[in-house]
Amino acid sequence: MMKKHILITGGAGFIGSHVVRLMVNRYPEYEIVNLDLLTYAGNLGNLTDIANAPNYQFVRADIADAVQVNELFDRFAFDGVIHLAAESHVDRSIEDPLSFVRTNVIGTVNLLNACRDQWAGQMEGKRFYHISTDEVYGTLGSEGLFMETTAYDPNSPYSASKASSDHFVRAYGETYGLPHVVTNCSNNYGPQQFPEKLIPLFIHNIKEEKALPVYGDGMYTRDWLYVIDHARAIDKVYHEGLNGETYNIGGFNEWKNIDLIRLLCGIMDEKLGRVTGHSEKLITYVKDRPGHDRRYAIDASKIKSELGWEPSVTFEEGLAETVEWYLENSEWLKNVTSGEYQQYYDQMYGSR
Ligand code: NAD
Ligand code: DAU
Repeated sequence: MMKKHILITGGAGFIGSHVVRLMVNRYPEYEIVNLDLLTYAGNLGNLTDIANAPNYQFVRADIADAVQVNELFDRFAFDGVIHLAAESHVDRSIEDPLSFVRTNVIGTVNLLNACRDQWAGQMEGKRFYHISTDEVYGTLGSEGLFMETTAYDPNSPYSASKASSDHFVRAYGETYGLPHVVTNCSNNYGPQQFPEKLIPLFIHNIKEEKALPVYGDGMYTRDWLYVIDHARAIDKVYHEGLNGETYNIGGFNEWKNIDLIRLLCGIMDEKLGRVTGHSEKLITYVKDRPGHDRRYAIDASKIKSELGWEPSVTFEEGLAETVEWYLENSEWLKNVTSGEYQQYYDQMYGSR
C-alpha cells in the first residue's frame, strides 16, 4: 500500500509542534512533512524528540512564497494538509497588519492553489484542514457562547486575517470542490508556547520578579484549553470530520484574566517557595489593548456529540504541568527570550 503523505504547516510553532509529535508517533504509516519558516515563533527545539523519526521530514519554506510552495508540492504528492502556519499574536497584528495579511491570507491561498492544482480530477480521499480561531466571531457580552453558526465579526487585524483565510477555504470548497474542514478553537496554553502570550509571559515575569502587565480592568474573559487536548481534537477532525464542516473546539473553561492571573501567582509562589501573596504584588494595570474583545466562550457540543472529543485534562492539572514545564526548561525560555524578544518586549511594555 502507498504511504500517505501529510503536510503540516507551522509545525515548529506552539500548537503545530504538539500536532506534529502526535501524528509522527501515532501514525508510522504516514510520511509527515513539517513546513515552517522558523519565524521568531518557530523553534525546532520544540521537536528534538522526533527530529530523527523515519516518517518525519522538516522543510524550511515560506507559505507566502508561491514558488516555494509549488516546488514543495512538486516534490511530494500530498494526500492531506493540516494548516497551522500563521502570524498568531494579536498585539503584533496591531503593530504590523500587513505581515498578517501576507502569511495568514496570501499564505493560505497559495496552499489552496497548490492543493487545487495537484488534486485536480482526483479529489477523492484528499483533505485540506484549516486551523482557525474563535476570534473570528468577535466578542460576546456576559451571556451566550460562540456556535459554528455565529456570524463572523472580527475586531483585530489578526482575527480579520484569520476570518479572511477561513472564507477562502470555504470558497475553494464551493468553487473548485476542494475537500476541506475548518476548526475554530479557543485560547490554548501549555508547554512550548512563546512567552508573548498571557500565560507563558506571566510565568516568565513572575519567575524574574518583573511587573505583570494586566490590560485594562483585567475583567476580560477567555476559554482556556490545554494544547495537547487541541492536538487530540485536530487528529480526530482530520480523520473523522466531515468535508465542508466547521467544528468549534473549546475547553468548557472560562476565566476572567485577573482571576487566572491570581491563580497563577498562587501556583508560582508555592512552586518557588515564596510566601503566599508575594507574586500578586507584581500585578500592574496598564493601558488596554485597542479593540480588545471582552469575552470569548465556545460551545463545543458539536465536536463532542458528533466526533466524541472532549478535553481530557482539567485546568488545574494543565496549568500545574505548564508551570512545571517552564520551570524545568529554563534553557528553552532563555533561548527564545534572547535577541529579538527583548526588543519586542521593550517596545510593547517599556523596560519595566
Ligand atoms: P505560533 O505563532 O506559535 O506558531 C506559528 C508557526 O507558523 C511558527 O512556527 C512560525 O515559524 C510559522 N510561520 C509563520 N509564518 C510563516 C510563513 N510565512 N511560512 C511558514 N511558516 C510560518 O502559533 P500557534 O499559537 O501555535 O497557532 C497555530 C495556529 O493555530 C494558527 O493558525 C493560529 O491562528 C491558530 N490558533 C491558535 C490558538 C492559540 O491559542 N494559540 C487558538 C486557536 C487557533
Ligand atoms: O482565542 C484564540 C486566540 O487566543 C488565538 O487565536 C490567538 O492566536 C492567541 O494569541 C490567543 O489570543 P488572545 O489575544 O486571547 O491571547 P493573549 O495571550 O494575547 O491574551 C489573553 C488575554 O490576556 C487577553 O484578554 C489580553 C490579556 N493580556 C495579554 C497579554 C499578552 C494582558 O492582560 N496582558 C498581556 O501582557
